[in-house]
Amino acid sequence: MASDKTIILVTGGNSGIGYETVAALSKASAKFHILLGCRSVEKGEGAVDKMKKEFGSALKGTIQVIQIDLLDRKSINTLKEKIESQFGRLDALINNGGVLIHTPMDILEALRKSFETNVFGPMILTETLEPLLQKSAKPYIIYISSEQGSVFQRNDPNVDIMHRRLRGEPYRMSKASINMLAACHRYNYAEWGCRVLAFNPGWCVSNLTGPEGREMRLKHGARDPKEPAHALADIIQGKRDADIEKNGMVDVDEGVLPW
Ligand SMILES: NC(=O)c1ccc[n+]([C@@H]2O[C@H](COP(=O)([O-])OP(=O)(O)OC[C@H]3O[C@@H](n4cnc5c(N)ncnc54)[C@H](OP(=O)(O)O)[C@@H]3O)[C@@H](O)[C@H]2O)c1
Repeated sequence: MASDKTIILVTGGNSGIGYETVAALSKASAKFHILLGCRSVEKGEGAVDKMKKEFGSALKGTIQVIQIDLLDRKSINTLKEKIESQFGRLDALINNGGVLIHTPMDILEALRKSFETNVFGPMILTETLEPLLQKSAKPYIIYISSEQGSVFQRNDPNVDIMHRRLRGEPYRMSKASINMLAACHRYNYAEWGCRVLAFNPGWCVSNLTGPEGREMRLKHGARDPKEPAHALADIIQGKRDADIEKNGMVDVDEGVLPW
């Protein structure tokens, strides 16, 4: 059905940056078929309804809701089978789904939750989908990271004091780890021409830290998630290939940030 199209999977596509990325990709090209990955199909369908109301005929690329829970290996395997039988390949994987533990919790539990969703799930998903990505003429793998995961910036006195004050070690560690995974996959997958990158979306209004966090982000001038969504659509269209060659996290605005 859509095999002549560019098949793109966005995990966590029902909310925040993922939602806007699905919309930006659909607006960018009728040649895109976007798989809106979500834990709950109901939430995913709700997101598509909202998108249709919000963007109407500006949506050109087709959107399909697909279930994916990064914590569930069976869900990952079923997703692979569905993509394989429907399209035979995958052209781009945007590993966006993630969590930031913002409620008090035992540190071991917070570490486990952060790493399981932000690192282990995306790694297993990517390696499960690797054979389908290998069949693409121009494959991309994008890991949504964060400047919070930059080891260089953690120790840079020139970085904005508000960002330096933030603790959140489990989240920071998980994003530093996803950067290493991106670097490893970039090296491992170079032989079959896959472009692999870690991407910093900037500080955005989203549901990552709950409803109160959303309000706080709005109040303190966090970015509109449409900005990273637009940058991600540019990446998939090959407009940032020169940045992907550089050694660092591809930044929402331009160039790269230090690992
Ligand atoms: N917002 C920022 O300022 C910011 C900055 C840097 C990086 N990031 C990164 O950007 C990505 C998107 O976050 P966001 O800010 O857009 O937050 P968000 O609005 O909370 O969206 C997170 C998405 O991830 C999904 N998700 C959570 N656990 C999952 C799991 N086990 N399996 C599959 N999907 C799962 C959520 O699904 P449910 O709706 O079902 O929970 C939701 O769709 C994350 O990786 C985050 O770390 C965000």
